Amino acid sequence: MITSDIQLAADELSRGGLVAFPTETVYGLGADALDENAVRQAFALKGRPAHNPLIVHVSSTEMASRLVRKWSETAERIASRFWPGPLTLVLPKADRVPSVVTGGGGTVAIRMPDHDLARSLIESFGGPLVGPSANRSGTISPTTAAHVEDSLGPDILVLDGGPCPRGIESTVIRLTEAGAEILRPGVIGADELAEIVPVVHSEREPTANAPLPSPGMLKKHYAPRTPTRLIDDLGELPGQAVVVCISEPPAGSRAIRMPSDASSYAARLYAALREADELAPEVILIERPTGSGPIWDAVRDRLSRASAQN
Ligand code: TXA
Ligand code: MG
Repeated sequence: MITSDIQLAADELSRGGLVAFPTETVYGLGADALDENAVRQAFALKGRPAHNPLIVHVSSTEMASRLVRKWSETAERIASRFWPGPLTLVLPKADRVPSVVTGGGGTVAIRMPDHDLARSLIESFGGPLVGPSANRSGTISPTTAAHVEDSLGPDILVLDGGPCPRGIESTVIRLTEAGAEILRPGVIGADELAEIVPVVHSEREPTANAPLPSPGMLKKHYAPRTPTRLIDDLGELPGQAVVVCISEPPAGSRAIRMPSDASSYAARLYAALREADELAPEVILIERPTGSGPIWDAVRDRLSRASAQN
């Protein structure tokens, strides 16, 4: 059920229930982060493997500081620069955070969303909420309330905030003594982070710029049902294809045109992939965007996962 009633949503959370809520990135599947049973229900509804940890959403840095073993000066500097916003910090967890939230691990991922409804919901409920993307595991993240219902069914309560303005998931960084490691690319990139904290690359990843795998970074992810391929030019397209492209498509092709600027492309991406899927083609072809900068890098990361074979 889709609602705009924050109190109704907060009451559902207080009863140990689930509520999908809007953020600036994608819709999250909310549950009381300190209630193991509620968190287990979120895993179950998503069909998410238990070892893949969840992001905890807060409405203040004070709330964040009580979820970690130590709220460092670096964490404070990063939070004051980037929160509220699409950046998730991974830090050693406090004992009060149930290990079901962290996939059994000793660190917890935290972010403060840049969305009034999300923060109002957390405030009305009165505590931190887990918020995995509100879709079945492995499928396309939802950027509207209707997408949530399409993925999780009509029984889930969805707080409607309209389309998500950023459209792709937050940058995830692990904070260590040495600095910040990017685990998942997002609209906040390494250059912007480096103004605040040294950006380090794990020794396990000698090829430098590639982000580190985090438990959720499966090769195939964010994927349409239809086989999806990345292409570099629109010259010859098979008849039964839908093409998602920035350039002018060949006459007569079934095409979904995308904006040419990075922010608008990211905001539109997941809705476009859903539309392409609904046209039920034999294959979805996506023109590989060539732009540079953190948003295009994050977009290409999602596109390569959407088109991975398995
Ligand atoms: O923008 C977002 O981050 C959205 C909105 C709703 O906030 N949430 C989201 O959550 O994308 P989810 O669960 O779909 O993705 C969380 C990612 C996964 O790749 C997971 O493995 C990683 O964050 N993660 C969570 N906790 C972690 C931890 N303790 N250590 C390393 N990676 C972690
Ligand atoms: Mg997700």
